[in-house]
Amino acid sequence: MQNSIQQTIDYVKLTLANAEVGHDWFHIERVFKTALTINAKEKGDELIVSFAALLHDIADPKFNNGDEEIGPNKAEKFLESIHIDPIIIDHVKLIIQNMSFKNSFDTGGFSSKEMQIVQDADRLDAIGAIGIARAFTYGGFKNRVLYDPAIPPVENHSKESYKNTTAPTINHFYEKLLLLKDTMNTEAGKAIALERHQFMLNYLEQFYGEWEGKR
Ligand code: ADP
Ligand code: NI
Repeated sequence: MQNSIQQTIDYVKLTLANAEVGHDWFHIERVFKTALTINAKEKGDELIVSFAALLHDIADPKFNNGDEEIGPNKAEKFLESIHIDPIIIDHVKLIIQNMSFKNSFDTGGFSSKEMQIVQDADRLDAIGAIGIARAFTYGGFKNRVLYDPAIPPVENHSKESYKNTTAPTINHFYEKLLLLKDTMNTEAGKAIALERHQFMLNYLEQFYGEWEGKR
């Protein structure tokens, strides 16, 4: 087991060597560590949680013409190449296929305890101090303004408008980041989310205060 995990770590590091910062090896490492922390409380299958966490962003659809099947297929091929049990591979593949926030707009997804744990860990990396840093990095990459009081957040994005928005980065807090705490699957994930959520609320209060020259 240790050996197959180490092989997976080596493969992911190599594959993501040139990835953008939001989905680089360090994102994977944070999700992996957080998933293991949650799993220690929730008691899922550690091998499945580990493979799914390590391989969940192996090919980002955003940089593959929107193709959402490349990642799961790549993960499957890799796990076959290191001779993992096909039952485990199938489970890991289903987790990766069903995990993304955008896919949660679609109905009838697969679920399992391991899927819930890895999904919580991935969503947690989008909130709190790291989540704020990632959002502004993404906004900068897209050349978005930080904030514009004249452009209010959109409350109910469709899958397409969510993907294609050009709104200020602060809007992303209301359109996604502040909604994530209520999407946690596990009790352990929820506890971590609450602390990170409060940190973001404090951050926004400080941000608006500074914007108005009041702090
Ligand atoms: P995930 O890896 O959780 O599926 P995404 O690919 O949707 O997340 O986004 C990667 C990171 O970029 C996340 O931290 C997310 O909050 C951030 N991000 C995505 N869309 C935007 C946006 N419109 N403005 C700012 N940050 C964004
Ligand atoms: Ni991710």
